[in-house]
Amino acid sequence: MIQIFGNFLDNLLTKDNLEKAEVFGDFVERPQQEEHLTLGFSPSAIPIRKRWRNNGLSADYVANYLATFFPIKVDGYDSIEKLAEMKSAVSYIANELLENSMKYADETALYPITLHTQLEGDKIRLFVDNSILPAQAEYFQDFIKELMNSDPDELLIRKLEENAEVENSDSSGLGFLTMINDYSAKLGWKFHTVEKDSPIMTVTTMVELAI
Ligand SMILES: Nc1ncnc2c1ncn2[C@@H]1O[C@H](COP(=O)(O)OP(=O)(O)OP(=O)(O)O)[C@@H](O)[C@H]1O
Ligand SMILES: [Mg+2]
Repeated sequence: MIQIFGNFLDNLLTKDNLEKAEVFGDFVERPQQEEHLTLGFSPSAIPIRKRWRNNGLSADYVANYLATFFPIKVDGYDSIEKLAEMKSAVSYIANELLENSMKYADETALYPITLHTQLEGDKIRLFVDNSILPAQAEYFQDFIKELMNSDPDELLIRKLEENAEVENSDSSGLGFLTMINDYSAKLGWKFHTVEKDSPIMTVTTMVELAI
């Protein structure tokens, strides 16, 4: 009995199990299913300035790919319009998520950025993974708490006012708010610390859209 308990503890404390995770918002784990698309990027391979066009192309590609599977019958003007609307929503959101991951990832961690998309019933989910420095994770979690505890319209006005006082900021804090206000998106996050030889912190941002 003691031996089994000892082994159990040993197994529990192996390096792969020493993980801490913290979840916020409406995070849903990605189910293991066959139909999905994952794109991977190396944050340090190309300077960030050269990424912008690439992000737009990746976002459009993902939107077009997913559109094939949208449960919308294209048999009239309304459905064609709905399809175009969904495509543009996915493209906008994928682009915002990629921009965020490229802007805020910990480049020194050499951890890949991935964009994973899937369709489950009438829900589209996009997941983006990136590494993150502990100080940025703390700032991000404070931002998420503010986002979850505020009225989105009021917070939008507050952010617009704050931005008016700062010139040329590329952290205007409007990306997630726009997803909520304009596309009724549900958002969730999972922060993860993997305690290997040198601990790496990662964040997965999930956005869910109803078709
Ligand atoms: N993938 C991420 N990794 C680390 N921090 C992030 C990530 N995404 C967002 N953040 C943090 O959350 C904040 C809010 O993100 P959001 O996209 O809403 O606005 P923004 O990127 O600041 O500006 P905008 O999207 O309007 O250009 C960011 O300023 C950043 O601090
Ligand atoms: Mg952003």
